[in-house]
Amino acid sequence: MSDTRLQRLYPWFTASSLLVGILVVVGFYRDRFREWKVWQRDYIRQETARATTPQEKDAARRIPVAIKQIVLPEVQRVDRCVTCHVAVDDPSYSGLPQPVSYHPNHDQHPFDKFGCTICHQGQGFATTKQAAHGNVKHWDRPMLPMLQIEASCAKCHHPADLPQAPKLTRGHALFQELGCIGCHKLHGRGGAIGPELDKVGAKHSPQWLTMHFKDPAAVSPGSAMPPVIVEEADIQALTLYMMSLTGEQLTEYHVSMKTIPGPRVGRQLFEEKGCVGCHKVGGKGGDVGPPIDDVATRRDAEWIVAHFRDPQALSPGTVMPKFDLTEHEIRALTEFLLSLTDPGIVGYIKIPTWMTPVERGKSVFGKYGCAGCHGRDGQGGVPNPNAKTAEQIPSLKYAAEGYTDTELRSRILNGQHEITPMDTERPPPPLYMPGWNGKIAAGEMDDLVAYIKSLLPEGDDLDF
Ligand code: HEC
Ligand code: HEC
Ligand code: HEC
Ligand code: HEC
Ligand code: HEC
Ligand code: HEC
Repeated sequence: MSDTRLQRLYPWFTASSLLVGILVVVGFYRDRFREWKVWQRDYIRQETARATTPQEKDAARRIPVAIKQIVLPEVQRVDRCVTCHVAVDDPSYSGLPQPVSYHPNHDQHPFDKFGCTICHQGQGFATTKQAAHGNVKHWDRPMLPMLQIEASCAKCHHPADLPQAPKLTRGHALFQELGCIGCHKLHGRGGAIGPELDKVGAKHSPQWLTMHFKDPAAVSPGSAMPPVIVEEADIQALTLYMMSLTGEQLTEYHVSMKTIPGPRVGRQLFEEKGCVGCHKVGGKGGDVGPPIDDVATRRDAEWIVAHFRDPQALSPGTVMPKFDLTEHEIRALTEFLLSLTDPGIVGYIKIPTWMTPVERGKSVFGKYGCAGCHGRDGQGGVPNPNAKTAEQIPSLKYAAEGYTDTELRSRILNGQHEITPMDTERPPPPLYMPGWNGKIAAGEMDDLVAYIKSLLPEGDDLDF
């Protein structure tokens, strides 16, 4: 190769070594200014500025810049959020801008046991903000917006047992009030007209759920689900409650607040089951059984638990019913009863005035979700296209007029699968009356019939 030919290549050598140089420098800067390193250096700068002695300053400067993570194999998580959110457990950083800021209210959920994504969702192992917050393709769980963070609480807490999460509690209450269970199974109980809802929160986005509530057929063509007509805030509460149903498997420790319900749940059960109909608390209530506020002085927890499981076994001949309670409910009720020796608690018990069959029937109506099809308080208005009865499911206002008690019972127990169409040319009505035989207990049925009869508007009774 001649010298001149080599000389002609010089510019190329220069250019390519320059390029390599630039790449090295760019690489260096990119690494040095990786998002998370910027935040960690920001943290070190603040620590250094706060240090008062030379030793402290020196220690602050020597804080390593490195990826930090919380490893939780038992819940399949590696959360590196603390790589940027470096000061979550340092109260002196409260109120400072994110991500170098203190985390409020975390004492009940220590980070070394909970990590972050168990509540916030997002992509735990990512180290860029965009990926970690989960706004990327192929990641099905973007971070929950802060407005919806309460949805996570129900993975581990009973939604009715958490005053700290009012929207969640509201959503759960509405679910019962609106009778969703009439068509949907949840935790093994409910109707079969719509799909099971145990994992629905992992299946749909909040946007889908909200749209679906307002107009089910618009997002689910041909849907038989009636639109949910409530205020916007309540639609949001229902959506939040649906999002909490992820069916995620967590450890016993994590779900312990749900599986060992506290006295608060016990108090609710005490009110719901109408125990004061037979037992006095704080001087009020029935006297079929003994007053109950001093039961802790007579009985221990074991006896009370065994008595709930089978009252007859411990008190032969007793009229106290064997309630259909789960073991968790029994534990909650027992804890509650034992806590009654604390006079402060007694004052909180609502002594219901509703000991009538009609009021008990109303709660049976709620328990089985009849309202989902017959409207709140059986007032109707639920569409059933092409049904002979005004294209709606009949209200129950006048059921007492058309049927005797016996007929009403058999109507409910047998249901009606074939609904007469208004127009035989059009598709048949999608909703039918399920049969409740074997589901509703005999005592409940008495109360239910009493309730349906009470719906008859005044002045419209039978003897005219
Ligand atoms: C690469 C750095 C980085 C990582 C990793 C990171 N974040 Fe952030 N995060 C930020 C920054 C910066 C903000 C400030 C607000 C913004 O810019 O969106 C922030 C804000 C937030 C907020 C407040 C959002 C709001 O709407 O107010 C939450 C919650 C949050 N992060 C949770 C997480 C969780 C959970 C993880 C782990 C899955 C995580 N972050 C990982 C950088 C990060
Ligand atoms: C037990 C559930 C739970 C865990 C675990 C949890 N958080 Fe939070 N986080 C919350 C709640 C609830 C709030 C809202 C707090 C408030 O406003 O009182 C919140 C607030 C935040 C905020 C502030 C958002 C804002 O706009 O003010 C950030 C950032 C954040 N969390 C990040 C994290 C990181 C990082 C971790 C893990 C080290 C974590 N969280 C662990 C429930 C949790
Ligand atoms: C992954 C499970 C999990 C999630 C999610 C969770 N918690 Fe908890 N929570 C627990 C456990 C377990 C305890 C009890 C901790 C202990 O005592 O060691 C607890 C304790 C509490 C306590 C104290 C209760 C008491 O009676 O002492 C409150 C309040 C609380 N959580 C509120 C919330 C809220 C609000 C949310 C949603 C933002 C939430 N938790 C999300 C598991 C969870
Ligand atoms: C009259 C029966 C009926 C009632 C009452 C009813 N649904 Fe539905 N629901 C359905 C049917 C049928 C579907 C399936 C078609 C569809 O996606 O709309 C459905 C679908 C759903 C879905 C989507 C499920 C999935 O897996 O895609 C959710 C969520 C839902 N319902 C929630 C509710 C809630 C919450 C209530 C109470 C406010 C309720 N439903 C009341 C019949 C009903
Ligand atoms: C139909 C009336 C009736 C109802 C309703 C009823 N009980 Fe009783 N209960 C009794 C009678 C009678 C006894 C006394 C005989 C016995 O030990 O079973 C009793 C006994 C008890 C005892 C033992 C008291 C003692 O000092 O020995 C407890 C505890 C108790 N009931 C709790 C409850 C709770 C909680 C509920 C609601 C879930 C409830 N009962 C509902 C009638 C009732
Ligand atoms: C999935 C929807 C659905 C649920 C849930 C449901 N029903 Fe019905 N029900 C219907 C339909 C549809 C009819 C009309 C049947 C017909 O046209 O013959 C009906 C009819 C009735 C009737 C007869 C009304 C009349 O005017 O002829 C009674 C009474 C009744 N239901 C009671 C109940 C009770 C009580 C419950 C709760 C235990 C309940 N229903 C739950 C759909 C439902």
